[in-house]
Amino acid sequence: MLSSRQNAVNAFFCASTPDTLPTLAPSAIQDGHTAAHLHILSLGRMTPHADLPDPRTGAAVKAADRAHVFHSWSAQGLIDPLAVAGAEGAYFWDYDGNRYLDFTSGLVYTNIGYQHPKVVAAIQEQAGRLATFAPAFAIDVRSEAARLIAERTPGDLDKIFFTNGGAEAVENAARMARVHTGRPKIMSAYRSYHGATSTAINLTGDPRRWASDTASAGVVHFWAPFLYRSPFYAETEAQECERALTHLEDTLAFEGPQTIAAILLETVPGTAGIMTPPPGYLAGVREICDRYGIVFILDEVMAGFGRTGRWFAAEHFDVVPDLLTFAKGVNSGYVPLGGVAISAEIAATFDKRPYPGGLTYSGHPLACAAAVATIQVMADEQVVEHAAHLGETVLGPGLRELAERHPSVGEVRGLGAFWALDLVRNRETREPLVPYNAAGEANAPMAAFGAACKKNGLWPFINMNRTHAVPACNITEAEAKEGLAALDAALAVADEHAA
Ligand SMILES: Cc1ncc(COP(=O)(O)O)c(C=O)c1O
Repeated sequence: MLSSRQNAVNAFFCASTPDTLPTLAPSAIQDGHTAAHLHILSLGRMTPHADLPDPRTGAAVKAADRAHVFHSWSAQGLIDPLAVAGAEGAYFWDYDGNRYLDFTSGLVYTNIGYQHPKVVAAIQEQAGRLATFAPAFAIDVRSEAARLIAERTPGDLDKIFFTNGGAEAVENAARMARVHTGRPKIMSAYRSYHGATSTAINLTGDPRRWASDTASAGVVHFWAPFLYRSPFYAETEAQECERALTHLEDTLAFEGPQTIAAILLETVPGTAGIMTPPPGYLAGVREICDRYGIVFILDEVMAGFGRTGRWFAAEHFDVVPDLLTFAKGVNSGYVPLGGVAISAEIAATFDKRPYPGGLTYSGHPLACAAAVATIQVMADEQVVEHAAHLGETVLGPGLRELAERHPSVGEVRGLGAFWALDLVRNRETREPLVPYNAAGEANAPMAAFGAACKKNGLWPFINMNRTHAVPACNITEAEAKEGLAALDAALAVADEHAA
């Protein structure tokens, strides 16, 4: 029963399976906070708790959902979404008294956790003052959000075009590159996700593209580096880097560089597996773009705003793209917001010539107020530094320690609050625990792993044969360790399928 439900959700995200699990005592969680991280709770977070159980309301919420809500990426008749009663910090809870530590941050966007009081208050204040206003006007909170973002984006990416989310950011970055260069095609990587709208889904390099692929969208895919499953038979990061750059140049030569408007990459690919690029790769792509007059777009919708332990992941690699897309963590997703940060040169293209794009809600005041408050909270509470520290001292070492004890863990990779466990049947052959894009019985080992996580009070991020540890960037050490303990227990289930 469980595996069929799980498989109904297209294997991209952990399905909503209402497994029962014990309610955690709030005091146990509070006691677990280390002194070093209590300041994060006291500054920004309320004490996590769960409401009293109310299964009747939960059943009514579920019934209305099933009657009227059409869910993303799902076979509607086969899913059973968990009815959520509330959320706070790194936790959420249902109506039956079960509380979960959220190791998904929603869809990797609640970088400062749920219900941060300062962001909630900022949205309330903005709603009382000026709840909405059209994008053609200068509005204080919109100007301030743009200023705060531009201050943090690398290099001269100082103009901000606001969208409602990540896909629209990618759509508009592609449009800007095409108009700026006068060229038709965009190159993007396999093993990528860029959003579900027309151009963004065509640029995506995973099976979510297949149903929408027009094959005439002006998109060319190539292989980016990924040493663990190297498309280039490389044995070292240096080899992988060199061969991936040669492959990109070769693809470019046969496509005709003069036809390519942009090369688009996730700085650190997220949903596709959190593959940190080898040293020199992004700098090499930058150099190729410069040589051929191609716009370099970095998609930081998932990797941006603290996720990797820097404001933007590009900082790790010392590269400055021409366009940078963002969303999610910009305001922890409290109100939909995304955007494109634009270089001086590309912005100048549209100084005298109108930009051929726009959105009714571009720079919506409520979303911008949430962004201003979120960025201030992240700066005041040192959330970015905390994410880096967490990766170096808790999540990285803790996950590597799990890998030593669990034969199903093939590789641990990541940084900051952005980690993936590549689960395998066999460490020698690296055969994935389930086949690529598996469904039904073939996906049963991952479904069983996911169910075991939930039984242990952890809501896991699952994509194909991987689980990602992507909690809120301000999760405490004690909470992170609680998550590692739950993963430890669940991996025993995955181990049953590994040699
Ligand atoms: C790297 C990346 N780009 C774009 C998107 C699309 O963002 P949205 O779902 O807000 O349209 C996502 C969503 O997960 C993403 O991870």
